[in-house]
Amino acid sequence: MIRMFLDCDTGIDDSVALLYLLARRDADVVGIASTAGNVPVDVVTANNLAWLELCGRTDVPVHVGSPVPLVAELMTTEDTHGPLGVGYAELPVATAGPSTTDAADAWIEAAATHPGELIGVVTGPLTSLATAIRRDPALPGRLARLVIMGGAFHVHGNTTPTSEWNIAVDPEAAAEVFAACGSEGVGAPIVCPLDLTESVALTPDHLVRLAAAAGSEPVECPDPTDEPGLRSVADNEVIRHLVDALRFYLEFHHAHDEGYLAHLHDPFAVMVALAPDIVETVPARVDVELVGRLTRGMTVADERSMTGEPNARIATSTDVEAVLDDLIETIGGFAKS
Ligand code: BDR
Ligand code: CA
Repeated sequence: MIRMFLDCDTGIDDSVALLYLLARRDADVVGIASTAGNVPVDVVTANNLAWLELCGRTDVPVHVGSPVPLVAELMTTEDTHGPLGVGYAELPVATAGPSTTDAADAWIEAAATHPGELIGVVTGPLTSLATAIRRDPALPGRLARLVIMGGAFHVHGNTTPTSEWNIAVDPEAAAEVFAACGSEGVGAPIVCPLDLTESVALTPDHLVRLAAAAGSEPVECPDPTDEPGLRSVADNEVIRHLVDALRFYLEFHHAHDEGYLAHLHDPFAVMVALAPDIVETVPARVDVELVGRLTRGMTVADERSMTGEPNARIATSTDVEAVLDDLIETIGGFAKS
């Protein structure tokens, strides 16, 4: 079994990431950390607990992170993910509560329990992981692999012209994590930046295929070039909630002239964590701008070792259709069962 720890700010694409992870029968999900970002941390936690309960996985503990970033004031983005972080989905309120171990201690305990085995993946701001590393600087060295969805290197940011959301919410945390990964003997994380994740785009046709893979009533989609609006939703409970979440995300991207599609940043990072050979990578020294008036939160990649040795591998290319096929088949098959 592949030991996995997911740190997320659920979030629509975080929801897909969580479902994909639960759907992978070869993954032992050791824990989920809720980090404040897309929505406040209590909402993130409620969403994580709700998805786990819907999937019959109340055995997976959910650990609550800090309500605020290390230094910055918290910003959230209900415009992108809906008032409760899951678009139009109305998830049932979970009966189970979160763990009493906080997110940072959960990182430390998980890595200590599975030394050299645990794969950590972060699909939200890096607040919880940075806090864990402050408490236990040796933590990164005990991971088998770390994958971070974050950053924008050669493309515009999605939060400011130069910064990507997960880094922009807590730039100090991101800077601390990348600095810690520069320490001797610590494995470099794989970074999945917007440059690549924006190419992993889900369309209404993919949702039709997802419903079919789950053996559900089909989702009816108009021609993707029509006005937005999926016309009906699936009868499978997990797929129905997932489609209700994702159609909000499709409409968000459409409203921002990006097409009637949804960028699957976070599921892609989880897929890379489970199978790193699905991406090409380049080694680089990654650092985060903290003081620039216009560039705070910008990720800077030094691919020529001008500022130091590489502390990360940046994912640069993948087979997008193969990724989407895997996602549809894996989540669809899981929801059907
Ligand atoms: C990231 O920002 C969040 O809104 C998404 O969940 C994703 O993790 C993409 O920039
Ligand atoms: Ca996220």
